[in-house]
Amino acid sequence: MSLVLGIETSCDECSASVVRYSPNEGFKVRSVSTHSQIRIHQPYGGVVPEIASRNHLETINPMIDLALKEAGIAPSELDAIAVTNRPGLVGALLVGITAAKGMAYALEKPLVPVHHLEGHACSLFLGQNITPEKAPLPMLIAIISGGHTNLYVTKVPPELWPPDFLKRALVGRSRDDAAGEAFDKTAKILGFPYPGGVWIDKTAKGGRKDAFDFPRALPQKAVLDFSFSGLKTAVALRTEKLKKEGTLETSLNDLCASIQEAIVDAIINKITLAIRAHGCQSLAVVGGVAANSRLRERLSQEWGRMGLARPSLFPESQYCTDNAAMIAAAGTYRFRQGHFLRDKALLSLNAIANPEV
Ligand code: KG4
Ligand code: ZN
Repeated sequence: MSLVLGIETSCDECSASVVRYSPNEGFKVRSVSTHSQIRIHQPYGGVVPEIASRNHLETINPMIDLALKEAGIAPSELDAIAVTNRPGLVGALLVGITAAKGMAYALEKPLVPVHHLEGHACSLFLGQNITPEKAPLPMLIAIISGGHTNLYVTKVPPELWPPDFLKRALVGRSRDDAAGEAFDKTAKILGFPYPGGVWIDKTAKGGRKDAFDFPRALPQKAVLDFSFSGLKTAVALRTEKLKKEGTLETSLNDLCASIQEAIVDAIINKITLAIRAHGCQSLAVVGGVAANSRLRERLSQEWGRMGLARPSLFPESQYCTDNAAMIAAAGTYRFRQGHFLRDKALLSLNAIANPEV
């Protein structure tokens, strides 16, 4: 059994969480406290890095205190402290890393650096019983968030993922905007507040999915990569035209439904190709965009057609967007493999902006 404190400050969520793990029972989330900065960044239409780091500074200690209190855990009872150290906004990452270092050094606990995307992948295992029958290998993991649209194939369970898992397992990625970015940028063109994905999801309800014919890029079967930048241009041109005609307001439901369908189509097409190309037996879809209702609907209807013998897996919806429980989960696996820093060596941990490292 292990108790791990997770800390996440890579972008605009300041989050701390205590997660318990035992090989027989899996993960039990004891607490998650998250302060979202969405409202602070909304007037600017996107995340302002300097404002993000300053706000993290104000909220990190209260979030950690609250997570420990809600879990009913004294800091001395923790087995390890896990912190996102890559990729992300450097200033924002440094706030979480510095807090984690201070705690780990003072309490003489191991410090586990966690890759944010490994956290998203592990969000699948939080609070639900993912048995080997539900998740036979090889498994395709689609991480679809505001920063990434990446496809990974794993032939081993997460406790056996090698340190360079994310590099080795990558089979497809977006060549430009991430799917979440495509939602956010097109929503901004339509005048919705940041982050726009959830607004498009809501406004698409009742709209006609085929009202506008937006592009689905890279249709070639041999390509497992995505591209969403053409969609943004097509939506900008169409929006201008509708504005001139004075019909933008009345077309919003149809526009949102058509944009959403174009993004979801592209995701489903490439996931289906990757499943076939790599003989995958199961599919997990994680990250902020996994909360999209149309994507969930189509994945839950079409898994048979996509070549799977069982339904697609999703994290519980509260673990789709950024949170520290997923960082604690990924950190637990790494801690159990012995990948952690101790004593003076932990003071050298640094933030890394680049997702490739
Ligand atoms: O995983 P996440 O919290 O942050 C990153 O690591 O990027 O994902 C945030 C992204 C944003 O782009 C947001 O618009 C999108 O997830 N998102 C959605 C929905 N909820 C969040 N996109 C479409 N439909 C949703 N319901
Ligand atoms: Zn994320």
